[in-house]
Amino acid sequence: MKALIAVAVIAAPVLAAAAAGRAVAVLHAAPGGKVEGTVWFEPAAGGVKVKAKVTGLAPGTHGFHIHEFGDCSTADFASAGGHFNPMAQPHGAPQASARHVGDLGNIEAGADGVASLEWTDTQLAFEGHHGILGRAVIVHAKADDLKTQPTGDAGGRLACGVIGTAKTP
Ligand code: CU
Ligand code: ZN
Repeated sequence: MKALIAVAVIAAPVLAAAAAGRAVAVLHAAPGGKVEGTVWFEPAAGGVKVKAKVTGLAPGTHGFHIHEFGDCSTADFASAGGHFNPMAQPHGAPQASARHVGDLGNIEAGADGVASLEWTDTQLAFEGHHGILGRAVIVHAKADDLKTQPTGDAGGRLACGVIGTAKTP
């Protein structure tokens, strides 16, 4: 019994370190669409660093969220559910204290249709109640106005990707 306890105490920090690696979502376009991209999630001081590059967009602002289910199986990506909201909060801006955990705001595409984002988020986590693994990143047709409940009025879903565990570099 003593030996078992010792093993558990030693093993726990090792497991925690492994779980705090990297994650990635490869965004696939809806049928007939051309919006694609890659979103990386990395541990960072004070939260999780989100690094995204999305191509094939109409120039302008597009809602960008983590949705509850890692299910991009339906053509309209409705299968991904609503915004990931484990704390039962209202929709809001990524900087707001009251927001869905999945509320990452907007990405901004230039004239070339490419949007890049780098943002360290204080609410995302790789495990536990705020855990994002196995959920989905969605890019929307319209801007997230950061206030309309519960969606930000961001319109249709152009691209979807499931957040999976990535190899730690
Ligand atoms: Cu969304
Ligand atoms: Zn939201």
